Formats: sequence, C-alpha cells, structure tokens
Amino acid sequence: VRPSHAGHESFMLAEIGEQPQALRRTLRAQSAAHAIGEAPWETLAGARSVSFVGCGTSHHAALVGRYLLESWGGLRAEVDVASEWRHRDPDVGPGDVVLGITQSGETADTLGALRLARERGAHVLGLTNVPGSQITREADGTILTDAGTEVSVAATKTFVTQIAALAGLALRTGVARGVLEPARAALLADGVERLPDVVAQAQEAAAAPVARAVERWAEEPFFLFLGRHVGLPVALEGALKLKEIAYVPSDAYAAGEMKHGPIALLSEGTPVICVATESPVLDKLRSNVAEVRARGAHVLAIATEGCAGSIADEADELVLIPPTDVLLSPVPAIVPLQLLAYGIARARGLDPDRPRNLAKTVTVE
Ligand code: G6P
Repeated sequence: VRPSHAGHESFMLAEIGEQPQALRRTLRAQSAAHAIGEAPWETLAGARSVSFVGCGTSHHAALVGRYLLESWGGLRAEVDVASEWRHRDPDVGPGDVVLGITQSGETADTLGALRLARERGAHVLGLTNVPGSQITREADGTILTDAGTEVSVAATKTFVTQIAALAGLALRTGVARGVLEPARAALLADGVERLPDVVAQAQEAAAAPVARAVERWAEEPFFLFLGRHVGLPVALEGALKLKEIAYVPSDAYAAGEMKHGPIALLSEGTPVICVATESPVLDKLRSNVAEVRARGAHVLAIATEGCAGSIADEADELVLIPPTDVLLSPVPAIVPLQLLAYGIARARGLDPDRPRNLAKTVTVE
C-alpha cells in the first residue's frame, strides 16, 4: 500500500481512519497461517513460557498479548520493555520463547533483547509490520501484520493489527495446546473476524464526544488516564499518544493504584480518561471513577454498549464502543484516545505527523 494522505489533513488521521482495512488485511494474512520461518504457534504449543519484549506502543500491544496468551493460549506469559528486560539478567533458556514485537522490525533494544534470548538458548519469535526487516532475518519465526506503511511517527494502525495478530496467535496456540475447546475457539475466532467492523463503529461513536472533549480540554495542563485489566494498556497507550503529539503531560495508572499516589494530583476540573470497558473488574473500576468524581475531576469514560451502567452517571463524556470479547476490547477502545490526542494536538496548532524529538524508527540503544 503506497503511503498517501490524500483527502486527509495528515498521515496520522488517514492512518487512524484506515484501521478497519489494516485489520482486514492482517486477518486475511493470518487465516492463511502466514509466517516467515517456523510457525510461531507450533513453537508456542510446546513451550514452557513466553516473554514479550517491545518498546513504546509495541510494548503496550505486548501487555494485551500477555492476557491473550495466558487466557486463550494456556501459556505462562510475561512482558517487559526491551531496554529493561535485556539488562536484568532474565531467567530464560531452552523451552522458553521470547517474542519481540516491533512494527518497524528495526528497533535496537528489541533486537538486542532477542539476541540475548538466543544466547541463552530460548526460542526467538518476532511480530512485525515490515517484511524483510531485521527481525525477520534474526528470529526463528516471524508473524507479519499487514497494516500497510505507517508514516505517522505516532503508531496507530500498527497497534491494533499487532493485537489482532496476537489474538490469532493465542487462538492457534490454545488449540494446539488443547486448552481451547473447538466450539470456544470458533466463537473467539468469530470475535476476531468482527474487529474491523467493530473499529469502524467505534470511530463513528467517538466522533462527537471526542470533539466536545477536545473543545473543553484543549488547554488543560495535565491529564490522568486510568484503566484496569486489559483497559490498563489502553490507558497507557492513550497517555503516550497525548505526550507524543500534543506534548501534554499525562500519566496512566492502574485504577486500583490511584489511591496510592495519583489521586493527590486531582483537583477541580482535572481531566481524567477512564477506560471502563467490560471486564471482570468493572465494578471495582466504577468505584474508582466515583472517587475521581468526588474530587471534582471531569471524566471521559470509554465504556462498552450494554454495560455502561453507573459509569454513564459518573462521566461528563461517554464513548460507547461495541461489545467484543473482553480481551479484544483494547482494539476498539484505543480509537477514541487516538482521536482525542490528535484533536488536542491540532487544537494547539501542532503538526501531529512531525512531533519534536521523536523518530519513527529507533536504531540506537
Ligand atoms: C519509536 C516510535 C514509536 C514506537 C517505538 C517502537 O519510539 O516513535 O511510535 O512505538 O519506536 O517502535 P517499533 O518499530 O519497535 O514498534
């Protein structure tokens, strides 16, 4: 796919809008069980554990991947940022798998982590968007996303396709390990296949509430993002987008940890973004949102249609995303947060495609 933002004001907005097609292409490649080198699901079928490593947005996709591989794949999984993992004497060896996630396939710390993994005798897998990139040459097996070239420095469509690819990998792994009944696997596969439509619906649902939030909050000096369970990686990714392209100081926290510090940051009118999608801990998140509101903060909540419940009463703005399997919810849930960061950057007169100090590909440590 040739990069172009014809008809859009920027690459980033074009790439946010292209997410349904990027997902459709990625899922098509997945259903053909396409991989370079050894088939990653076969490697994982006999593995003792999987460690995900990645940087930036790819690290956030890895945090979702941990839930998917543990829950659907029946495999012990851990995650770390590549630049930390590789310098902490990680306990991996034969029988373990280290899976590097990097959309560019060239990030120095991620490649460095994989080299260390190989030295220690672990199996090395990759997930990338660029065929022929360095990771495809170094890993024993690589899964490809097919998001098309991502030009914008801030990753968007590569993030959602990474999660979709990890979901496909977790499904195949779960079936191969005998932990997923065929009927359940078919149901989950159906949910994965629906992701392109779900994302298109989330884009539509987000437009009006996000525009109001941008108007209200464009000049705010600080944002707090909260989430729990798979909503936490979404909160982390939403805050990262806002820092990267709008230069707004923001923090993302596990909502249950708020009482151990970040709640002190709240005052009258502080914008708080809550990823309050369906999850096994939604009730607990509801009380976190109530605590935030009691401190005078203003809340934008991302909730799931049909289970917004009392979240709707606590929120100043609400974006309702279509229901999905809980572990797939980060895919539609990130869309409003991408649009929020984009809208705030534009409202501040910034060019989202050219954020200061950042590079699309980081080939130095
Ligand atoms: C840079 C980019 C980020 C990206 C990160 C990891 O910092 O600005 O958008 O998430 O690198 O890149 P990778 O290619 O390894 O996914």
